[in-house]
Amino acid sequence: MPLPIGRFSLTNVARLYQLPRLLQVQHNLRAAMSSSPGYLINEPKYAWLKDLGLEEVNKGVYSGGAWSGSGNRIDSICPANGRKIASVVEGTPEDYNKLIEAARAAWPAWAETTPPARGEIVRQIGDNLRKNLQLLGKLVSLEMGKILPEGVGEVQEVVDICDYGVGLSRTLSGQVLPSERPNHSLMEVWNPLGVIGVITAFNFPCAVFGWNFSLSAVCGNCTVWKGAPSTPLTTLAVTRVVAEVFERNGVPPGVLSAICAGADVGAAMAADERLPLVSFTGSCAVGREVAVTVAGRFGRSLLELGGNNAILVNADADLDMVVQSAVFACAGTAGQRCTSTRRLVLHSSVHDQVVSRLGKALESLMAKAGDPVEQGVLYGPLHSPASVEKYESAVARAQAEGGQIVFGGKRIARLSSSGGYFVEPTLITGLKPDSPLVQEETFAPIVYALKCDSLDEAIRINNSVKQGLSSSLFTRDLSNLFRWIGPRGSDCGLVNVNIPTSGAEIGGAFGGEKHTGGGRESGSDAWKQYMRRSTCTINYGKDLPLAQGIKFE
Ligand code: UN1
Repeated sequence: MPLPIGRFSLTNVARLYQLPRLLQVQHNLRAAMSSSPGYLINEPKYAWLKDLGLEEVNKGVYSGGAWSGSGNRIDSICPANGRKIASVVEGTPEDYNKLIEAARAAWPAWAETTPPARGEIVRQIGDNLRKNLQLLGKLVSLEMGKILPEGVGEVQEVVDICDYGVGLSRTLSGQVLPSERPNHSLMEVWNPLGVIGVITAFNFPCAVFGWNFSLSAVCGNCTVWKGAPSTPLTTLAVTRVVAEVFERNGVPPGVLSAICAGADVGAAMAADERLPLVSFTGSCAVGREVAVTVAGRFGRSLLELGGNNAILVNADADLDMVVQSAVFACAGTAGQRCTSTRRLVLHSSVHDQVVSRLGKALESLMAKAGDPVEQGVLYGPLHSPASVEKYESAVARAQAEGGQIVFGGKRIARLSSSGGYFVEPTLITGLKPDSPLVQEETFAPIVYALKCDSLDEAIRINNSVKQGLSSSLFTRDLSNLFRWIGPRGSDCGLVNVNIPTSGAEIGGAFGGEKHTGGGRESGSDAWKQYMRRSTCTINYGKDLPLAQGIKFE
């Protein structure tokens, strides 16, 4: 019997988590019936995967310093050709339970290790990732489908956040505040939370783990990581790089645990009182279930959910920069970043010019579409057949609602025939900003060009969606800029000027408002979410004055 939690039940959470998995299982069956039944890892071209410690069959659970797994065996599928890369034996809820206990057992020793000593371990992890940068980047590219420079860039993001964590380990600080009482000291002390859960998505299969793990570890927590079910090899290879550093240094096993698993384990994590914090990256629908479940047990959740990001182009914008930014933000990662641009809000005086130039730019990008792992390729496939279905359904709806396709709208035949999930980046005009389709996030390379007549109208359109992740204004006028970043400007967590919506740096806090979930990961003071704050009032005198001048004698 599932535990009812408010309106929601764990069955609901499990069902929502299960959906992508069912699609993957369905896909695995399809792929198994396709031309070549062999695993890529056994072919000479892919022998480099073994240098990352991967095999044809891999154990999907790392717990207490050992590898295991007693669940289903699943295949990881290459989006560029639909073939099996290698397989992973997933963990079960029982495996998860043991893993949490091992993490809890590791916690006291890690919590008592000084922050700079924890930072030294994170520094070594960053170095070990640097050594494996190219290979891990290639794996991310092969398994997720993003192009090689973006795969390497993603691993670089983990290296960067490790460097950031090292500095943080010597600067984690609380305030000392003036006490109203004589001979009293008022100060904030930050302590770790314990064991925290991190659930990540397929589109950034290691960077988002890195953002969470580096901060969590430096803050003195043990981390339990459940990666996306369709990118298990990246989860395993990255965990192995971390584990090597743990073994070399005698770090208590359990400071990091990883589990490749499906919806049942995700639901168990959300409901688990032993996890004071659950960091979740994924869709708004699943994020809502996680948030409600975690809140139902008074836990803390850190949510990084969907975006419906806009680029606003003012009449005075530099259009060369606009077009270049839009190509990257709309078509980069085949539109599968939570920060990808979904809407272009164009001043009517530049609308036609931007649309025509962007359409041509997307068209010429097709000459560089191909196997994402190959050098020189700039545009890769979608991650899964389910993503292709969502893309096709959004294109059909746009047409039915009167939208005109300027470029794109179809699968890329020359690449799809070899089994890959390739679709054209797609630019659509003529839809209304409040059309239900435009208000939704379709996780695919589709962008809607919308017309407006003033900056005020553009900002209203920007803020009219449920999501609030990223936004960019192109202008050369300082007064527009400060209006945009001010109280009546963009309501998003990321508010940019003259750059794309995607491609944030690790130094700032990353995340968004409204249905994006409100969480902030990575830089700035995001670390505070991984700790608990004690306000400590210390009397070092001989009298006992009470606050507010109260006399109780
Ligand atoms: C995500 O898509 O979940 O800002 C994260 C960016 C990347 C992170 C995206 N640095 O596009």
